[in-house]
Amino acid sequence: MRWPNGLDGLCYGGDYNPEQWPESTWVEDVSLMRKAQVNLVTVGVFAWSRLEPQPGRYVVDWLDRVLDLLHDGGVKVVLATPTAAPPPWFSLAHPDALPVTAEGVRLHHGSRDTYCAAAPAYRDAARAVATMLAERYRDHPALAMWHVHNEYGTICHCPHAAAAFRRWLRERYGDLDGLNQAWTGSFWSQSYSDWAQVDVPRATQYLANPTQVLDFRRFWSDELLAAYVEQRDVLRRATPDVPVTTNYVLADWVPVDHARWSSEVDLVAIDHYPGETDGRAEEQTAFAADLARSWAGRRPWLLMESAPNLIYRYAEGVYAGKEPDRMLRHSLAHVARGSRGAMFFQWRAPRGGAEVFHSAMVPHAGADSRTFQATTRLGELLTGLAETDAGTVAAHAAISWDAASGWALQHPGMPSRHISYADEVAAAYRALWRCGVTTDVVCPTAATFDLTGYRMLVLPALYLMSDAVADAVAAWVHDGGHLVVSYLSGVADPAAQVRLGGYPGALRDLLGVRAEQFLPLEPAATVRLTGGRTGRLWQERLTAPDADPVLRYAAGVLAGQPAVTRRRVGAGTAWYLSTRLDDDGYRDLLAVIAAEAGVLPVLPGAPAGVEAVRKVAGDDRWLFVFNHGTTPVEVDVWGEDLVSARVVSGAVRIAEGGVMVLREQPPRRRRRRAH
Ligand code: GLA
Repeated sequence: MRWPNGLDGLCYGGDYNPEQWPESTWVEDVSLMRKAQVNLVTVGVFAWSRLEPQPGRYVVDWLDRVLDLLHDGGVKVVLATPTAAPPPWFSLAHPDALPVTAEGVRLHHGSRDTYCAAAPAYRDAARAVATMLAERYRDHPALAMWHVHNEYGTICHCPHAAAAFRRWLRERYGDLDGLNQAWTGSFWSQSYSDWAQVDVPRATQYLANPTQVLDFRRFWSDELLAAYVEQRDVLRRATPDVPVTTNYVLADWVPVDHARWSSEVDLVAIDHYPGETDGRAEEQTAFAADLARSWAGRRPWLLMESAPNLIYRYAEGVYAGKEPDRMLRHSLAHVARGSRGAMFFQWRAPRGGAEVFHSAMVPHAGADSRTFQATTRLGELLTGLAETDAGTVAAHAAISWDAASGWALQHPGMPSRHISYADEVAAAYRALWRCGVTTDVVCPTAATFDLTGYRMLVLPALYLMSDAVADAVAAWVHDGGHLVVSYLSGVADPAAQVRLGGYPGALRDLLGVRAEQFLPLEPAATVRLTGGRTGRLWQERLTAPDADPVLRYAAGVLAGQPAVTRRRVGAGTAWYLSTRLDDDGYRDLLAVIAAEAGVLPVLPGAPAGVEAVRKVAGDDRWLFVFNHGTTPVEVDVWGEDLVSARVVSGAVRIAEGGVMVLREQPPRRRRRRAH
């Protein structure tokens, strides 16, 4: 991973859209940025129609002045290519490059992302505008990093997409026999006898072919990556020393396998907008940050966008407020887990446009506002926390995340529409998070998949599993790893074909169990388990020929049969969960397994709602402690708190919504000083 050039310490700032404002506002912007200690802004993300009002006619004097002004103000720039928002002339000139839905509806200009990334005209225009920016700004002293596009994730079903999909499939399967076999063409008369018959998954009568749909998502991940790489290479050629990145969007509609993309970016950068208000936003924040750190190869990364004062509850169609203390906690939680700073969408709230009420560091009310005070406070804090940038986070527990398994489980032909991959991973992560254990995320299909150094591994609903991954997991358990597998793992191979002989196919022998039937539960139903626990969402008719039942079903059609099992394997153990344990049950079980594995909480005995993460650089250690609760708590810590500038030790009170970042003195140095 590489860093924005010319920046020391942590990055602080956000998306800056000067094209929306008169020049007099730019001057005020830079002065407010200085006041808030902003040192990095992302410029030009959606500025294509301003940069190129007519085909090939570039108007850049305004951008020259913006960059000069920022440079004079000591603010570095992440210069974006504007290719996520093609201008009106482009769409008129190239209607074939407008995106088409699965229903065959061609979408029109009027929003953003109105392109098909497989359309040659779009790719040419994108490369051309990236080339222009690279040539013009390659030597500008404000340029710290390139930001390609915005949140890659748009798919299309047009003829260009179909042709590119066929090329991708030929590459993957070689010939039609391979394709027909992988897609189970014998089912419902779907065998192809000519490549011209193979199409993108369009709206169809009833259930679509699941492997066709899965491959379409994989294809789009690769196609979008190719579009990114084209622009990146243009920028790299002009400025080999300036890092290039793009901002990942995390959502289950996104057809991007970020684990596979991460070797192509110089710095992993994510956007994160947690949607929950009931305390879950904090877990979501921790998970997103751990995911980003893992994508970055356990090295630092960057929170490129987050919301200064709103939580977007898209499902409910309503915005919820985000109080300043929560904004600070979320920002610092990302920093604690390896983000090289905190960036926002956006610097200044616009006067109009589709996202007119999205939040900003400078809100509609202006700088005389609680939001801007919080902006300034965060700037001070991040400046004071610069030394923590040297630290890295170490984890001995890991959880799996596999984009393709999530896509496969979205197919409506699955046994329960109430199972969501993201929820399954979130529930397992929540249990670990509530144990106070620091967790890495491993991506089994990534080239970098490696379990070395982990003592505990949780595989929630890892539906697709290759033999190679199953073998690697088994070898790791034999060598002393403590494995926890949940239902719907190992069921199918990478082509989404079910492994025969009983579930969980690829892991059956390792776990010593065999399930012969899934019996999903209605969303509101629960099933009693022994030990006073409950299960929900899922249950299985399970036998444990070579494992010990730890919990059994205590009611219902499965009463008396194993629900949770444990098997000793070589120097390790392998646990199987055939139902979704209630949250406390999940946490308690993982706490037992973590203790057996020697995986310790960061802050043993911390009260509920307290999150602790440690960063380490040689002898230097920083302990980030967050009280996400609504009442003050006491924690047993010591060191110099860089937030309050106090030296603390012993039972230390931390206010509700409070944060401490303790510079913990290494015991060796303390002893020396004491003598
Ligand atoms: C994303 C986009 C931004 C903006 C925000 C919403 O992160 O990258 O352009 O739409 O969401 O506030």
